[in-house]
Amino acid sequence: MIAGSRAPEAGGEVLVHDLAQVVDPRGGTSDPLAVVADGFVWIRDGEVAAAGPMADLPSQAARLLDNSGDPRIFDGSGCVALPGLVDSHTHALFGATREHEFERRLLGATYQEIAAGGGGIQFSVRDLRSRSEDELVEISRPRIAEFARFGVTTVEVKSGYGLTVEDELKSLRAIQRLARDGDLPRIVPTFLGAHAIPAELAADRAAYVRVVIDEMLPAVAEAGLARFCDVFCEEGAFTIAESEVILDRAAGLGLGLKIHAEEFTSLGGAALAARLGAASADHLVAVDADGIAALAESETVATLLPGTSLFLKLGRHAPGRALADAGATLAVSTDFNPGSSMTQNLPLMVPLACLNLGLTIAEAVRAVTRGGAQAIARPELGSLEPGSPGDLAVFDAPDVRHLAYHYGVPRAVLTVRRGRRLWPAAEPCRDGANCQAGRPSLS
Ligand code: NIG
Ligand code: FE
Repeated sequence: MIAGSRAPEAGGEVLVHDLAQVVDPRGGTSDPLAVVADGFVWIRDGEVAAAGPMADLPSQAARLLDNSGDPRIFDGSGCVALPGLVDSHTHALFGATREHEFERRLLGATYQEIAAGGGGIQFSVRDLRSRSEDELVEISRPRIAEFARFGVTTVEVKSGYGLTVEDELKSLRAIQRLARDGDLPRIVPTFLGAHAIPAELAADRAAYVRVVIDEMLPAVAEAGLARFCDVFCEEGAFTIAESEVILDRAAGLGLGLKIHAEEFTSLGGAALAARLGAASADHLVAVDADGIAALAESETVATLLPGTSLFLKLGRHAPGRALADAGATLAVSTDFNPGSSMTQNLPLMVPLACLNLGLTIAEAVRAVTRGGAQAIARPELGSLEPGSPGDLAVFDAPDVRHLAYHYGVPRAVLTVRRGRRLWPAAEPCRDGANCQAGRPSLS
C-alpha cells in the first residue's frame, strides 16, 4: 500500500439540510455546476448517501430532523454545499517562514535574485535539515489543519526542502505521520527531491541527479512513502533531459508523475508531462502553444496557481482561458509554500483564476474540486454522487457565484472528511471572531 493514499478514515453520518444550493461541479457545457436549489447532502458510513432537492430527502435522513440538537444535523440555510475542496499542489512541509524575503521582494528584489543569494528554497533547505522529524510534524500540523478552515478536505504535500537522502526521507516520514491523522484533511504525499540542486553539489549537478535516481527514488518507493514524484523543471533548477530521466525512473518504480513546468520560462515541461502520461503539469505561466496543445490532447491535468503569480508580482498569468478553450482539464491550487505563495486559502484562488486567468466561475469552482481530484488521480473525490467519499465543504454564501463575486469573503462553516467533521474543530477555537460567528454548528 502506498502511504497516505488510503489513510484510515473514520466513517460517520452528517445531514446538511435546507441549503440555498448544492453544487456538484461535473463540467460539461449545459449545466457545468449542476446547481440544485433548496437542497440537502446526506453522508452515511463515510460516503455520500444522497444529495439533491429537499423534496427528495430520503425518509431515513428525514428522521434525523425529528431530533433537533442531533450533532449530525447542520442547518444549511443561506449556505452553499460543494464536494470537499482538493488542493493538489502544496509544499506544506517546511520549518521557518520567510517573511523577511517577502518584505525584500516588496522593496524590489526578485524571487530569482533572492535565490541566487542563497535565500529562497536554499534557506528552507538549511532550515529543514536542522529540524527533527518530530519537530516537522509539530510545526506542520496546524498549517495543514488550517486548510480545513477553507473547506479543503484533501491536500497534496510535497517534500523537497531536504535534498539529501536522509532529509528527504525524514520529510516524507513526517508527511506520512500527518497523513495518518484523521482530524486533518486527507494528505497525498509527493516526492520532490528534484526541487533544487543542493548548495553542496552546486558544482556537480549530475552527481545530485544520480543521488535522486539511484538512492532517493528507490528508497522512497521501497518504503511506500510517496504517491507521486515531481520535478522542478526550470532554468536554474532541472533541465528537460534531467527531468525526463528522473520521471522515467519514478514511473518505473510505480510512482505517479507531476512536474513544475514553465513557471518562469518555457522549456517544454508541459509537453514532456503529456508524453510521459503525468497526472499533472503545474504552474504553466510561460507555456507556449505547443504545450497547450499537448496538454489538451492528453489526460494530464493543467494545474494553475494564480496565487503564485500574484505573490511573486510576476505581472503575468497562466493562459487559463486558452487552456480551457483548447480542452485541457484544469485544476487550480494554492501552491502553499513559504516563498512563492504563503496561503492555505484555496477558495480565494477561485476569484483570482476568474479575474487573472480568464476562467468562468464554473470552470474555477470545478478546478478546485473535481479538477484537483483528477490532478492527484483520485477522481472519486470532488464529487457528490452517491457512493463518493463523504467529503463536503459548506460556505456561507447564498449562491455559488459569490465564491468569486464576493471575493475572499465566503467562509467555510462546515468541512467534513469521510463523514467526519474537520471544521469547526472539535476543540474550542481560540480565534473567536473568525470562528462560526452566528452559524449553527454540529455540536
Ligand atoms: O512552486 N517553484 C518551485 N517551488 C515552489 C517555491 C518553493 C519556495 O520558494 O520555497 C513553487 O513556487
Ligand atoms: Fe510548487
